[in-house]
Amino acid sequence: MFKRIAETGRNLIEFEFESQTVSAHDEDTVAAALLAAGKIQFRDTPEKDRPRGPFCMMGVCFDCLMVIDGVPNRQACQVQVAPGMKVVRQKGASAAGPEDASSSGGGA
Ligand code: FES
Repeated sequence: MFKRIAETGRNLIEFEFESQTVSAHDEDTVAAALLAAGKIQFRDTPEKDRPRGPFCMMGVCFDCLMVIDGVPNRQACQVQVAPGMKVVRQKGASAAGPEDASSSGGGA
């Protein structure tokens, strides 16, 4: 479905997507690398488990949220891929981190 416009001459690296080894060019974002590998479903919606994938590729739509190296709610279009990185699809909503749970108005 997606293909690179031109060869880049950049080095190839490998990372893990749901127990599969995926090749990417260094400096790719996780989203660009997965789309180039034919992976288009990145998460499921919390309410109805509908599949979602990257839409804007610039950090606006949040349809690319994934679990990257064990950390949920990461925008795959904003994270540069790294050798050995472990990426899985995000299923539904993930719990907010401790800093998010305490930021409900700053004591006001
Ligand atoms: S694709 Fe829209 S925020 Fe990542």
